[in-house]
Amino acid sequence: MDARDTDKAVAVRDLERRFGSFVAVNHVSFDVMKGEIFGFLGPNGAGKSTTIRMLCGILAPTAGTGTVAGFDIRDQTEQIKSHIGYMSQKFSLYEDLTVEENIDFYSGIYRIPPDKKRERKEWVIEMAGLHEHRRLRTGILSGGWKQRLALGCAILHEPPIVFLDEPTSGVDPLSRRQFWDLIYELSGRGVTVFVTTHYMDEAEYCDRLGLIYRGELIALGTPGALKTELMREDVLSVLCEHPQDAMPEIEQVAGVKEVALFGRGLHAVVEDGASAAVGVRSRLVERGYQAVQVEQIAPSLEDVFVSLIEARDRLEQPQREVRR
Ligand SMILES: Nc1ncnc2c1ncn2[C@@H]1O[C@H](COP(=O)(O)OP(=O)(O)OP(=O)(O)O)[C@@H](O)[C@H]1O
Ligand SMILES: [Mg+2]
Repeated sequence: MDARDTDKAVAVRDLERRFGSFVAVNHVSFDVMKGEIFGFLGPNGAGKSTTIRMLCGILAPTAGTGTVAGFDIRDQTEQIKSHIGYMSQKFSLYEDLTVEENIDFYSGIYRIPPDKKRERKEWVIEMAGLHEHRRLRTGILSGGWKQRLALGCAILHEPPIVFLDEPTSGVDPLSRRQFWDLIYELSGRGVTVFVTTHYMDEAEYCDRLGLIYRGELIALGTPGALKTELMREDVLSVLCEHPQDAMPEIEQVAGVKEVALFGRGLHAVVEDGASAAVGVRSRLVERGYQAVQVEQIAPSLEDVFVSLIEARDRLEQPQREVRR
């Protein structure tokens, strides 16, 4: 083992999972360092949950190797299970049990020693802010509280790594933010957090991100690096009167690849920001548009991901046509 391997919470190489002839996860390789918040992003069906299930020792890979908390994902799955917390995409709490009874139930599942049960329960209730809810039936809690309770139950045994599969889907923005406060608190205690999400604001909160698309890892890096290094195109913000009418005009300018409405204005994806900005401005002024403002802006993570996914689609298009 390389000395630096001890700094890794997760290390996978060429991880693959097939279901029959369908490849759900296709030779994925990455590391997650201890204490990191690692965000795993990708559209529906990309392979996020399948990857997590392999890392948690629930689903066997069909090829590739990996370790989680230093244990082999193929033949040390029991050790992995006792060293991780897992909040599945469809996490299960018992709706007809109270908050405390759910915690007690999971204490049993995780075999928390009897002398530690009480202390761990109080810790979870404190961390998740569930004091006022402790005797309530879980079924009547709002989605945000259920998710905090589910996270609490997943970390009762003090695992050094937690896997959270879309933990905040379907809850309001305030609850999502409060949930992220908990994630940060865990991270501050040195816990490694592996989290999937569809929300771009949450992606920005992560230390590092992996983008998976059709089973393949197509980008890996910090949010900052992905925004500055991975997008080959530039993005222009265009403000003018009647932006909807201006769209086809802008599309005609040399070097413009794509134009979309964005708030009150437009975003244009262009080959070269400086020259396209001049071209767009002069075309709009020429056509009589008033109050034209064009400036190059830093792409958002969403711009980057859409651009990477579309580039991947273009790459695969000819092959698909050949097959037909
Ligand atoms: N047990 C299974 N048998 C057959 N196909 C499966 C199985 N589990 C997952 N798949 C397929 O593998 C692909 C990846 O699924 P996965 O659940 O990992 O996606 P995901 O990225 O988590 O998507 P979502 O964002 O919708 O949760 C999908 O096409 C899915 O239908
Ligand atoms: Mg999923």
